Amino acid sequence: MTDRYCVFGNPIGHSKSPAIHAQFARQTGEDIAYEARLAPLDGFSAAVRDFIASGGRGANVTVPFKEEAFRLCDSLSARARLAGAVNTLSFADGRIAGDNTDGAGLVRDLMENLRTPLAGRRILLLGAGGAARGALGPLLEQAPAALVVVNRTAARADELVRHFAAHGPQTQLAGGGFGELAGKSFDLVINATSTSLAGEAPPLPDGIFAPGALAYDMMYGQGDTAFLALARRLGAARLADGLGMLVGQAAEAFFVWRGQRPDTAPVLAALRAA
Ligand code: ATR
Repeated sequence: MTDRYCVFGNPIGHSKSPAIHAQFARQTGEDIAYEARLAPLDGFSAAVRDFIASGGRGANVTVPFKEEAFRLCDSLSARARLAGAVNTLSFADGRIAGDNTDGAGLVRDLMENLRTPLAGRRILLLGAGGAARGALGPLLEQAPAALVVVNRTAARADELVRHFAAHGPQTQLAGGGFGELAGKSFDLVINATSTSLAGEAPPLPDGIFAPGALAYDMMYGQGDTAFLALARRLGAARLADGLGMLVGQAAEAFFVWRGQRPDTAPVLAALRAA
């Protein structure tokens, strides 16, 4: 019998996840069905229970339910606990297990698709919300030389850095506000703020991009996001949007559910061509 999965979000209509998982299933020969499900803003847990009752085996969770999913789980992976958010649910024996594959998807996109080594590099992470929090642990695992987190509300960045201090002893880890960036430069600048949604860019100073640097926006859309347009003006050598992270987190979720790691490159290429 075909195993059923879905993604919960609100809105969810334009989700690319069903197409991505359909390609993973074809690639690996796994017999799964994957659909998008709109959950009411005040009815996420009921929507999950309904899906479990109708035979669902697992689900992805997207905006705005990742923190609620975290609270709903009976058990959590270490990386989900560290991220404080869950994007991957597994249902078995009447229990809900939670995982977070976002950060792993980002790191995989950076290292495999974009061929950007992280060990020994200087990384700047913009933002201190859920997206930044999910990325921090997996980035620190790669032992960058420095990881600086800046946020509009500097205190949130400081708090995040304190929370992760024990997880990257080999990395110089610092937090603060955008004002502290003057005179500094980085090999990789990752935008984990939600500014691109509003067509705005975070306030970055001249010289922030080291020679050869990569500017990475977790958001994606038609053409450059506002952050990538700014990065281009500031001389970033390479630009990438978050479509590869989307495929990467999906591949990692597929692995959690099916024990198989699909090849992300052809799936990403198909999405870019569409
Ligand atoms: P997500 O789960 O997508 O990370 P979030 O938790 O609401 O969403 O976090 C949004 C992030 O974008 C925060 O870092 C936020 O900064 P604050 O903590 O100061 O609110 C950042 N952000 C949102 N709008 C911004 C803006 N106009 N300029 C700079 N940063 C902004």
